[in-house]
This record gives sequence, structure tokens and C-alpha cells, in this order.
Amino acid sequence: MGLRLIQGGRSVDGAPGLLIEHAAEVATMAGGTRLGVRMDDPALLVAPGGDPGHEAAPAVACWEGRILAAGPRNDLVKALEGSNYPIARFARLDAGGGTVTPGLIDPHTHLLFGGSREGELVLRQRGADYLEILQAGGGILSTVAATRAATDEQLAEHGRRWLGEMLAHGTTTIEAKSGYGLDLPTELRLLEIAYELGKEGPVDVLPTWLGAHAVAPEFRARPDGAEAYVRYLLEEQLPGVVAQGRARFADVFCERGVFSPSQSRRVLEEAARLGLASRLHADELAPSGGAELAAEIGALSADHLAVPSDAGVDALAAAAAAGHPVVAVVLPATTWFLMHDEVAPARRFIERGIPVALATDFNPGTSPTASLPLVMTVACLELKLTPSEALAAVTINAAAALGLGDELGSIETGRQADLAIWNVPTHRQIPYWPAADLIRAVVKRGRVVLERAGVP
Ligand code: NIG
Ligand code: FE
Repeated sequence: MGLRLIQGGRSVDGAPGLLIEHAAEVATMAGGTRLGVRMDDPALLVAPGGDPGHEAAPAVACWEGRILAAGPRNDLVKALEGSNYPIARFARLDAGGGTVTPGLIDPHTHLLFGGSREGELVLRQRGADYLEILQAGGGILSTVAATRAATDEQLAEHGRRWLGEMLAHGTTTIEAKSGYGLDLPTELRLLEIAYELGKEGPVDVLPTWLGAHAVAPEFRARPDGAEAYVRYLLEEQLPGVVAQGRARFADVFCERGVFSPSQSRRVLEEAARLGLASRLHADELAPSGGAELAAEIGALSADHLAVPSDAGVDALAAAAAAGHPVVAVVLPATTWFLMHDEVAPARRFIERGIPVALATDFNPGTSPTASLPLVMTVACLELKLTPSEALAAVTINAAAALGLGDELGSIETGRQADLAIWNVPTHRQIPYWPAADLIRAVVKRGRVVLERAGVP
């Protein structure tokens, strides 16, 4: 095994190298974005005879925050010894017969908000409809009021708490939307706090501007409220967000009764012109033209897609076939928590060659879970993804949904060394033990950032 010297990466406390050994399985996810039948191939390295103590059991070597190589331990150590990477300069991490995967990536969260909405769960149990609750001033709008009233410190504390929860479930990178401010000062606060939390680490946070999450309360009484709010977004809020420079992406809740495809297009096209890549809440509650729009404007992702039209699925398939895939970010915890019967047709997306990713949609109304392993379980049970497909959907394909498919999401030479080590002997058991704490350790940029003591 030849090793090439890797430049860059964040320097590591103490040893510049990290060697993870005694794994029963390493799911490398090597080989790029997964489409079609390849979604089911996690590019595994496995211990001979399932014995993690075997000299050829798979190991992963990291150097200065990047993946150096993964392979049988004996070959890997020989290659390190015969190279510029002195074995003495590698800290050791014992995988304890567990599984190593790329750190999980959550490409759709509403991380920051004030308050909580457990009351709506009971209202929905009694038959209330999600959009009716919103139109009556509850739902997103009640969280907007609580978020505006929260201090920066309260929002940051909340963010830290839930980022910690995400990390404890194997997540190393997330996208985080604004959208509970709907006025410029609060939207800017949300983007700034998300950015600062990412800088604080260890979880990387990529902020998305979602000013078009709902029509702001100040505009709702007006007969032309939605249109006036869109004009305000374009003329005031978006320029302010761009001047601040924290948001990477723009998103719109494109849904019948919220923002139309043409309003969504205006917001996203102007945002793209100003440098923000597009993503879209599409076809969550009714076929609303969202999938079609996402394909037409070349969005990075179309999210939800619980009820896309046939034309929308055709448009996403055509984009993928033309080599400009829009990632279908499906959110099965949301349809589960909303108790909706119709779930995203993920098998159809896979058959049509559309790349599928999974995300938590972490938010106080429709998906108050921060756990990607739980989302993987729901994806297996309700969308009929295989466990290997579910893993691809929270690693390599989730990286593609964030435009980071060349940097994150797989264990390949030169990639950022973000890894999750699980206390199960195969990745197929990650969705199989719902709600268990399966994480043994998490590595971010080659540094061990979480380790559970005393786990065999
Ligand atoms: O993705 N659907 C729009 N936005 C969120 C829910 C926001 C909320 O209910 O607070 C979602 O499900
Ligand atoms: Fe969402």
C-alpha cells in the first residue's frame, strides 16, 4: 500500500496522527455519490472471520485532520513504517470490535429556535391539521414569537445542547436554517449564532437563510401579505443577509398556502445571483411544483418530497440523468411525527436514479429529534430503505446535498477525517437498535472529540 503525503488539515493536539484499530467493519462509502443500485454498496472493509483482533482487521489512519488510508491493519502499519509517517506519532483508538463509518451529516435542520410546541402534538392527535394551526397563528408563528423574545445567550445555549445531542448520535456536520425570525434583526442573529456555534465546534454548522419560511406576522393582515413579504425579502432582508456573509445557502418553504413556485423562484434566483446556493422545502404536504422548480433552477437539494407530482419526479430523474443531480433530501421523522400516511417515495427515487439523502429536519413542530440513527430506523421501516442505503443517505449523499461531496462523507485518502465509531459489529445494526446509544467514539478532523468510557 503506497501512501502519499497529505498537506493541510487542522493540527492535532499531541500526535499529528491517529490510528483506529480493532474494528470488525469499516464502511468506507468510497466511490462518490450513490445512485440507483449503488446506494446499497457501502464499500466495506471487514475483519477476516469477523475477528477484530486479526492482524488484517481493517484500520483507519488519519494525519493532521485528514484520512491517510484505510485498509488491513498489517498492510497499513507496514506502509506507515516505510513512509514519512512515523508510527510512533500516531495516537491509537481502539474500535473494540465495533464499526467505523464516516461521521454522519445532517443536511436539513432548523437548529435554532425559542420554546417548544408539545401542545400541537395533542392538537394533531385530535385531528388538527398542520397548516391550519399555522394559519391560526400557531405553528411556525408561535416559534417566531418565542425566538424573537429569546436572548442570544439562550439561543446559543439551546444550540449547544442539541448539537451535543447530535454529536452523541454520530453527527459531525449539519446544515442549520434560520427562519424563526422573519425580520432582519432576528434572522441575522440566528445566522450569526449558527455560524459561531460551528466555529466553537466540534460539529461543523453550515448556515442557511430561510427568511421565506412563512409570511411574517407584520404582513399577514394585509390582503397582499405574501407578495409584500416577498418584496421585503428581496429588497431588504436578503441584501442584509448577504452583507453579513454568514449564510451559505438559501431555502424557501414552497407549499400550497405558503409560498408559490413563482415566489420561491424569485427569492432563490436573486439569492443565487448574490452567491447563495439553493435548496427548497418541496412538496411536503401537497404536490406544489417544488420538485419541478428545484430541478429547473439546479438546486443542490429538494427536501421533504413526501407527495411530489409525477412530473416532479420526472424532472428530478432528468436532472440526475443529465449529470446535474438535485439530491432528494427525505425527512421520514417528519411524516412519522406528523402522523401522515403518505411518505416520500424513496424507492421510486432510487429506481429513477435520483440521489437520496436523509436528514432529521430537527425543529420544534414537525420533527423534534436530533438523532440521525433514529431517522435511519424510520427510513428503513417506512420508506423501505435498506440499512446500507440509509447509511449512504446520511454520509456520502448527505455531503453531496451540501455541495461537499468531494470533501466529506467517505473514508478515502485526503478527505476530512470525520468518523463515527459504533458499538455494533456491522453498520446494518445502526438502524436495527432504535433509540439505543450506539456511539463509542467520534472523531472530528482527526481528533477524538467524544469517547464513551467503560464501554466494552
Ligand atoms: O421542515 N415545513 C416547514 N418547516 C419545517 C417545520 C417548521 C415548524 O413547524 O416549525 C419543516 O417541517
Ligand atoms: Fe424543514
